[in-house]
Amino acid sequence: MTASERRGPDVDRAVAVLRAGGVIGLPTETVYGLAADAHDLSAVERIFRVKGRPTDHPLIVHVPDTVAARAWAADWPEAAAVLADTFWPGPLTLIVTMDPAATTAERCVTGGRPTVALRVPDHRLAQRVLQEMPGGLAAPSANRFGRVSPTTADHVLDDLGDDVDYVLDGGPCQVGLESTIVDCSVDPPQILRHGAITGERITAVLARLAPATGPSRAPGMLESHYAPRCRVRPVEDVETARTVADRCRGTWRILDGRTDPAAFAHDLYALLRRCDDDGIDEAVVVLPADVGIGRAVRDRVLKAAADHVADD
Ligand code: TXA
Ligand code: MG
Repeated sequence: MTASERRGPDVDRAVAVLRAGGVIGLPTETVYGLAADAHDLSAVERIFRVKGRPTDHPLIVHVPDTVAARAWAADWPEAAAVLADTFWPGPLTLIVTMDPAATTAERCVTGGRPTVALRVPDHRLAQRVLQEMPGGLAAPSANRFGRVSPTTADHVLDDLGDDVDYVLDGGPCQVGLESTIVDCSVDPPQILRHGAITGERITAVLARLAPATGPSRAPGMLESHYAPRCRVRPVEDVETARTVADRCRGTWRILDGRTDPAAFAHDLYALLRRCDDDGIDEAVVVLPADVGIGRAVRDRVLKAAADHVADD
């Protein structure tokens, strides 16, 4: 089957592939996921294989609504209730204690952890698939481990090729960065990954939130991540970007994240992929200010840059 035959907007086909134990590219409002039935052990194991991801690195479970999310949870803390009511469906993942009666497949999804990450995506096609699979779909971002997340169906096919059975094409992702993750299994809750649901918006609805200090407890958040092949050089202003570019020995491109941070969040991964496609050596990224969505953009760019720190 050619790449073009393995992609399209056919929800029925996507559901048929999932029911047969296959893996699909699933469009969401954040990034594309590599999805499989979260109750099917061999399908979940295939996600880890295709992604090249360590099996103790847990996956997010995508569900159609809060009722379906609660079926995975041992309890539903007040913070989870408030956040789910306020922001679901949307780009927010909640971590709660997992139902102790979880099956082997379900424990494989969480990498053997006692907690589970749950998300209700706000995307028309994802919702239609989830209505047919209300038990939940395990889905990490549909890139190979450690690489830039995909924000179009083409990106998924570029990365995963024949390893994905079908890519449900829902167009370019609206947000462009992975969901915000809030750990509600601890008290007070803690933001583990920043995203489009900003720290400011979460603080506005929660009575208490742990200060974001110290290393992140989301496994996989510490290593270099989100990395293109080109070297990423984060700078704080355009003037410095020009100086860095002038000193660059190879080809370079300046990416300006300061002027319009939300638009930049949307475009960031596509821009980094384009640098690689065009054979650019260095992407000099002007970071947005550390507020709102700017926080999430800075986080991803600094992680992408961490891959090359050792070269300095
Ligand atoms: O926007 C998103 O969240 C996308 C789309 C596809 O939904 N998914 C995504 O998945 O970014 P992934 O696997 O690339 O990132 C999930 C993150 C990982 O850093 C993982 O360690 C963390 O969530 N995570 C998952 N379950 C967890 C748990 N029980 N405790 C702590 N961290 C967890
Ligand atoms: Mg990822």
